[in-house]
Amino acid sequence: MGVARRDCGGLGLGLLVVGCLILTGLELCNCGMTSSYVRNDDLSLDMPLDSDVFRVPPGYNAPQQVHITQGDYVGKGVIVSWVTPDEPGSNTVLYWAESSQLKSRADGFFRAYKYFNYTSGYIHHCTIKNLEASTCPYSPYCSSFLLVHLSELMSCLLQFDTKYYYEVGIGNTTRQFWFITAPKVGPDVSYTFGLIGDLGQTHDSNTTLTHYELNPAKGQAVLFVGDLSYADDYPLHDNNRWDTWGRFIERNAAYQPWIWTAGNHELDYAPELGETRPFKPYTNRFHVPYKASDSTSPFWYSIKRASAYIIVMSSYTAFGKYTPQYKWLQKELPKVNRNETSWLIVLMHCPLYNSYVGHYMEGETMRVIYEKWFVEYKVDVVFAGHVHAYERSERVSNIAYNVVNGLCTPMSDQSAPVYITIGDGGNLEGLVTEMTQPQPSYSAYREASFGHGILDIKNRTHAYFGWHRNQDGYAVEADSIWLLNRYWNPSQRSSVAAL
Ligand SMILES: *[C@@H]1O[C@H](CO)[C@@H](O)[C@H](O)[C@H]1NC(C)=O
Ligand SMILES: *[C@@H]1O[C@H](CO)[C@@H](O)[C@H](O)[C@H]1NC(C)=O
Ligand SMILES: *[C@@H]1O[C@H](CO)[C@@H](O)[C@H](O)[C@H]1NC(C)=O
Ligand SMILES: *[C@@H]1O[C@H](CO)[C@@H](O)[C@H](O)[C@H]1NC(C)=O
Ligand SMILES: *[C@@H]1O[C@H](CO)[C@@H](O)[C@H](O)[C@H]1NC(C)=O
Ligand SMILES: [Fe+2]
Repeated sequence: MGVARRDCGGLGLGLLVVGCLILTGLELCNCGMTSSYVRNDDLSLDMPLDSDVFRVPPGYNAPQQVHITQGDYVGKGVIVSWVTPDEPGSNTVLYWAESSQLKSRADGFFRAYKYFNYTSGYIHHCTIKNLEASTCPYSPYCSSFLLVHLSELMSCLLQFDTKYYYEVGIGNTTRQFWFITAPKVGPDVSYTFGLIGDLGQTHDSNTTLTHYELNPAKGQAVLFVGDLSYADDYPLHDNNRWDTWGRFIERNAAYQPWIWTAGNHELDYAPELGETRPFKPYTNRFHVPYKASDSTSPFWYSIKRASAYIIVMSSYTAFGKYTPQYKWLQKELPKVNRNETSWLIVLMHCPLYNSYVGHYMEGETMRVIYEKWFVEYKVDVVFAGHVHAYERSERVSNIAYNVVNGLCTPMSDQSAPVYITIGDGGNLEGLVTEMTQPQPSYSAYREASFGHGILDIKNRTHAYFGWHRNQDGYAVEADSIWLLNRYWNPSQRSSVAAL
């Protein structure tokens, strides 16, 4: 177990935090923690192509790389995606509620792409939507149910919080999976999100995913903060490593939605290979319901899930003033009704607050533009990846600077989000271990170890965040805090370190 090194002397941390708060009022205390946990830092290699996690499912043209994500704004829809290697096969998903024998169907489409001399398999995407019983028979998704009984119509209705089985493929190579639909949106709905970033496909990546799966906190959906396969680290951006990654994550992503954020390793911009369309493999393989939130691009969008309003942003698409992303977010933030979705969560790849040497200050341009909105709209927490380590900030803001007034130091601000960097999924580039010294006051906890996070929303006022390092037992939290909702507890100090 690690021994924490801190700047405020030798008292227990609990006393220390309280002491610092009392002594300093609204000023930041200088008691950020740099963990001195000693881990084995051998650089982990990508798992070999013949690894069990990359196994191709048996059967001619068997669907592989099956994954799901939320398919609409409120969680009544699911996008199912999969790849067939040999021929297009079927675009249909059959699905049925656990308690029902009657199968419904949704029809999607497929696409394929080329990348330099690589040709993809047939990539299928199919959205299962919630359909009102009255409109169900007229929907293309239920075209086979034009003349059916009312009871059968009801099965078209994808209910909330229900276990559904689904099947993809045709003939004797079909495969079955299941998912549980999201609970109905409401301010006090409890829900547990997993947080994974910069995963890659090394042995460490496999350990991270295993720890997430075996964590007794039982994440119900993954908020993925970007940098998926790291295929671009291979010569010619070997897109076969996109396929292996798809097969690797299937064991989890086919059963619970992964909410996608684009990172720099999704760009696959390689003019030297004649590949000049950014995000080509990513956008072909991973679909998101961006139109449902009036976005014009898959790189920024929002969803409601349980009691959370989740805004996904793109660090690698234009975000300056007047850009489409800027204009979208400007309209989006006032739309968030905290009476309905009490928790406001932002995902992006590049962190706005980072005290590691790696990628230091890379998020500054975005911070300068968007931080004031995060404070104004009381965003509860911003999750990012990119930096291959873990870090949690204090509630701080740095929005007073106007070029001439010299006010350019982060200040304690109880309307500001907590910034959490969780880019420690375990990819082949290894950890970033070098930290800026001394630890800046905005940094509450930092440690360069692989792991994942769990955001456990309890109700409209309380959520618990835990960070799980891979070397510990599944239930162990190496860092944790209670997050007090910024809209519903505006006057209460938060985050409060959970000790
Ligand atoms: C990956 O992890 C799973 C689950 O722990 C295990 O069954 C599998 O053998 C691992 N594969 C590799 C290549 O490490
Ligand atoms: C693509 O080109 C590389 C380098 O020339 C070669 O090694 C590889 O076999 C080619 N792949 C295909 C599918 O042709
Ligand atoms: C799958 O179907 C094909 C063609 O219908 C048939 O030739 C083959 O034997 C079947 N395979 C299995 C494992 O049933
Ligand atoms: C939220 O609820 C409060 C109290 O019930 C009400 O005053 C307020 O108008 C509501 N806000 C919205 C956006 O519905
Ligand atoms: C909200 O959850 C917290 C933590 O579990 C609990 O202490 C509190 O009583 C809950 N609030 C309500 C109104 O149930
Ligand atoms: Fe990155």
